[in-house]
Amino acid sequence: MSRKNEYDECAMELHALLEEGAGLISNLANAAALIHHKFGFFWTGFYLVEGEKLTLGPFQGPVACTFIEKGKGVCGASWLREESIVVPDVHMFPGHIACNPESKSEIVLPVFSKKGKIIAILDIDSDKINDFNESDRMGLEQLTAIITGKLEA
Ligand code: SME
Repeated sequence: MSRKNEYDECAMELHALLEEGAGLISNLANAAALIHHKFGFFWTGFYLVEGEKLTLGPFQGPVACTFIEKGKGVCGASWLREESIVVPDVHMFPGHIACNPESKSEIVLPVFSKKGKIIAILDIDSDKINDFNESDRMGLEQLTAIITGKLEA
């Protein structure tokens, strides 16, 4: 199955899995588990916006850095720029934060509240170089939109 079709299937699964009455952490935990195991990524997780920094939230994969400052690393840059970032080679991204040397490429997307505020950052790492492209960005933006739709406020 192509990744595009896998994202479409994953969108249906995520929509069925997330509970509108559940708290953010429960839904993000299930979202991380679903995406991670469906695609076999190296690391899949969320950083939560807490004041002026990001704090590690639900994830699947090896241990990771706990805090990321606004503007720092790929996650902090995505938060600051309010846009998704595809990094084909992590060594080419100035300021990239290496939580694990196995990580070779990365895609990072903001998760918006219903009012359009960034509440979390979805970070996915691959142990293969150049593993993400525009089609992943579109597929994953579909998934973050589903998370937004299930938020309580
Ligand atoms: N590489 C990320 C840090 C988080 S870990 O990859 C899990 C970054 O540069 O923001």
